[in-house]
Amino acid sequence: MYIIEMQDVNVNYGRVRALDNINLKVKEKEFLGIIGPNGGGKTTLLKVLLGLIKPNSGKVKMQKDIKLGYVPQFTSFNKKFPIRVLDVILMGKLTKRMKLLHKYSKKDIQVAEQIMNKLGILEFKNRQIGQLSGGQMQKVLIARSLMIDPDILILDEPTASLDSNAKNDIYQLLKEINSEKTIIMVSHDMGIVSSYIGSIACVNKQLHYHGDDIHIDEQEIQEAYGCPIDLITHGTTPHRVLREHKGEEN
Ligand SMILES: Nc1ncnc2c1ncn2[C@@H]1O[C@H](COP(=O)(O)OP(=O)(O)OP(=O)(O)O)[C@@H](O)[C@H]1O
Ligand SMILES: [Mg+2]
Repeated sequence: MYIIEMQDVNVNYGRVRALDNINLKVKEKEFLGIIGPNGGGKTTLLKVLLGLIKPNSGKVKMQKDIKLGYVPQFTSFNKKFPIRVLDVILMGKLTKRMKLLHKYSKKDIQVAEQIMNKLGILEFKNRQIGQLSGGQMQKVLIARSLMIDPDILILDEPTASLDSNAKNDIYQLLKEINSEKTIIMVSHDMGIVSSYIGSIACVNKQLHYHGDDIHIDEQEIQEAYGCPIDLITHGTTPHRVLREHKGEEN
């Protein structure tokens, strides 16, 4: 049973085609990594899944009553904004109908504290967000997305600009979350993530999917990947492969 199914999805921005005939099936509890070049349509694909962009044609089917959590690509947060970590996380509970000064219930605060505890950021609860490191801030944003207890967690480059320790820390955390939830994550550092990720979709207008039991060798990468890839293969000796896809239009 698939939790998400995209069928023949096309998205244009004006005359620019961003996604071309996308077909994708995501299983429950899958950890799907999405890679691809800048401008390849990764964020657009996530926005289609989130219902923020309506495709020009094609279908997106979801299992009934699925809740989606979202950690967007760049934080639109002004880090100078005088707001505490706890308040940012509680905002995950806000719906369109609520005002920013909405009073949260005791239960909401309890849930936020449990999540912070799990993510190892409870000690920062009352800190201004401007006083956090990049990695700590990312955890706050993940915590915020978990407030609705989503079935699927969608993350757009959650580790961009973090050092490798902080990256590993986030991936470890996502791996734990993955035991309960489906994860769809855009990332450029597949090298580190390959041990956490079950399947890979490469998006460059079109989508190429690689399931978990695929053995990827260089030849296959050349033939099958629709974009330059930076990946450690699943073989006995991990190695890096960087390859341009031949004959690809830009
Ligand atoms: N709102 C928009 N209006 C017009 N064109 C857009 C809009 N959003 C994205 N695009 C274009 O659609 C294409 C795909 O953009 P998208 O943001 O999905 O790429 P991406 O794979 O997420 O890139 P990056 O790795 O840089 O984040 C790009 O050519 C981009 O310029
Ligand atoms: Mg993007």
